[in-house]
Amino acid sequence: MPIELQWEVSEEMPEGLESFLSEVADACTELEGVPGACFAVRVVDAEAIRELNRAMRGVDASTDVLSFPTLRYPAGTTAGNDPRRLRRAYDPYLGAVNLGDCALNIRRAREQAAELGHSVKRELGYLTAHSAFHLMGYDHMTEEDKRTMRAMEKRAMSRLRLWREPKGGIDVTNRELFDRACEAHKSSYAPYSNFHVGACILAEDGRTFLGCNFENASLGATICAERCAAGAAVVAGARRFAAIAIAADEAAWPCGICRQVLREFAVNLDMPVIVGPVGGDFTIKTLGELLPESFGPEDVLHHLAK
Ligand code: THU
Repeated sequence: MPIELQWEVSEEMPEGLESFLSEVADACTELEGVPGACFAVRVVDAEAIRELNRAMRGVDASTDVLSFPTLRYPAGTTAGNDPRRLRRAYDPYLGAVNLGDCALNIRRAREQAAELGHSVKRELGYLTAHSAFHLMGYDHMTEEDKRTMRAMEKRAMSRLRLWREPKGGIDVTNRELFDRACEAHKSSYAPYSNFHVGACILAEDGRTFLGCNFENASLGATICAERCAAGAAVVAGARRFAAIAIAADEAAWPCGICRQVLREFAVNLDMPVIVGPVGGDFTIKTLGELLPESFGPEDVLHHLAK
């Protein structure tokens, strides 16, 4: 668990919050190039955050999130720039690099979630990601710094499916999707390559669909795991894909044909593609990164409309 969650408010904690915030922290630290680093997340009420702001920063006002980094980052540098400096934040008790603490104001999170029309859990995810980048040396005091920080946040949001639009889908974590892909891998039929692949597509409506590669004596008739899962989704009426996880004997990014098939049904080009070896750790890229300058349905439909 890359975060330590302290839920310091009386209301009930959203289901699955801890594993969700851990994924948020993981996505941010991985993007920065400091995987495994951790931090503490305290969820507090409006009065407690005001008190923290007063005591630690001399500001007598409430706010949505406060970040307290363990390390000082010289101007223009962030956690990923200097692994030696980062080692000074190693905490033997945790067995990890401790980036610091953040405090989230549950009342503000609730208000902001209502304004934006999404769940408190999702808003806590945004605030945690924002704080994670502060804890790694990012800031938004100058326009340039702000652009850099926002760009990192945006990349993290895509990997976590925390898009502004369309909403939904965060009840299944990337870890769960990957675990389901590992399950599907067991069904792979690959006597010719001995390369087994499983896939799990998350549809926008929250349903998941499994696929595995199935080969053929006439080799060209082989179908990849990704297209097998896509077929299962489409026949069930799911034509909007929010994410795909792929587990293979060795981590493998989807082939060109599968990227194009995913492009057809992806809710957007920020759709995460989660890839790893069966039973191991995964990495995430967006479909847009895997298929830049792509050609999609709107290009043809636009032409037809002329
Ligand atoms: N394969 C997939 O299932 N997905 C990919 O994206 C790459 C390749 C399968 C097809 C074939 O059965 C085996 O891996 C070796 O190419």
